[in-house]
Amino acid sequence: MDHKHHCVPLNDGHFIPILGFGTYGTAEVPKSEAEKATKIAIDAGYRHIDAAYLYENEEEVGRAIRSKIADGTVKREDIFYTSKLWITFLRPELVRPALEKSLKKLQLDYVDLYIMHFPSALKPGEDLFPKDENGKTIFNTVDLRATWEALEKCKDAGLTKSIGVSNFNHKQLERILNKPGLKYKPVCNQVESHPYLSQKKLLDFCKSKHIVLVAYSPLGSHRDLRWVDQNSPRLLDDPVLCDIAKKHKRTPALIALRYQIQRGVVVLAKSFNEKRIRENMQVFDFQLTPEDMKVLDGVNRNLRYVNYDFAIGHPEYPFTEEY
Ligand code: A2P
Repeated sequence: MDHKHHCVPLNDGHFIPILGFGTYGTAEVPKSEAEKATKIAIDAGYRHIDAAYLYENEEEVGRAIRSKIADGTVKREDIFYTSKLWITFLRPELVRPALEKSLKKLQLDYVDLYIMHFPSALKPGEDLFPKDENGKTIFNTVDLRATWEALEKCKDAGLTKSIGVSNFNHKQLERILNKPGLKYKPVCNQVESHPYLSQKKLLDFCKSKHIVLVAYSPLGSHRDLRWVDQNSPRLLDDPVLCDIAKKHKRTPALIALRYQIQRGVVVLAKSFNEKRIRENMQVFDFQLTPEDMKVLDGVNRNLRYVNYDFAIGHPEYPFTEEY
C-alpha cells in the first residue's frame, strides 16, 4: 500500500492521509499499549497518527514514532502527526507553551497538525478537568478567535505545519472564518462521525469552505463507561451494516471505515489489537457501490456516543446547534 495515493489536500497546501491511526486508550489500558500499537500501525502502513495531550500518552506514542524512524521504517516527513490543544489551555498566552509541552513529551521538533480539542474553555491549570468543591466543572471564558490567532503564530513559528479545530459546530467555524484579519483558515474540523451520526449538514458546510472533516469514533466509539451511555445501540451490530459487510465479504468495521473515505471524510481507526490494526488497512482493498452508500446514509439517527457531558451548560458547548 502506497500511502501517498491516499492523501487529501488541505487548504494550506499540505496533505493529510485519509486513514489515520487513533491512539486514545481508556483509563484501564496501560500507556505502554499505545506505544506497542503505534509501532505495529507504522509497520502495517499507517502514516497518519492522531493523538492528543488529553490522552496522556504522547510520550509513549512519540517513542514509537522515533523508534520507527531510528530503525529506518519511516522518515519523520513520512509521518503525519496530529496533537490537540486541551481546553484548559485555550487562553492565547497558554497556547504555545501547551504545544511546546506536547513536543517535549514527543521529542519531536514539530507536529503536522495542531487542533483545538473542544471549544469550551475550562479553568487554566494542571488539572485536565478542574472541579469546584461541589464537583462541578469550572468553566472559563475565552474568545476562540484570540485562541485561533495564537495557533496561527504557532504555525508561523514552525511548531506545527497546519492548524485546525475539533468538535466545532458550523457557527463556531463561521466565527473563525469571519474573523477580521484571519491569516489561516482551519484546515479541518475533527468530529464524531459514523453511519449513526453521518454529520451530513456539517460535512456539506465544511466542504463548501474547503475544510476537511475528520471522523473520530467511526466504529461507534470505545464505549468507555465514563463517556458513553451503555444503553446506546452498538453500531457494529447494525443489521444494515452487517448485510453490506456480508455482501462484500468484509467486516462491519471495514464497511464503516470505507463509508467515510468514499464521502471524502478522513477517518481515524483506533485499535490496540494487532489483528484489527491490520484488518483496518483493508479499507483500501474494496469499494462500496453508490447504492451501498445511499443505504448507509439511510441508517443515520443523529446518535452521538461522545457528548462531553462535563461541558453541558458552557456558553461554547457545541452540540446544542443542529450542526
Ligand atoms: P480495540 O482497540 O480492542 O481493537 P472507534 O473509537 O474508532 O469508533 O473504535 C471503537 C473500538 O472499536 C476501539 O476501541 C477498538 O477496540 C474497536 N475496533 C477497532 N477496529 C476494529 C475492527 N476492525 N473490528 C471490531 N472492532 C474494532
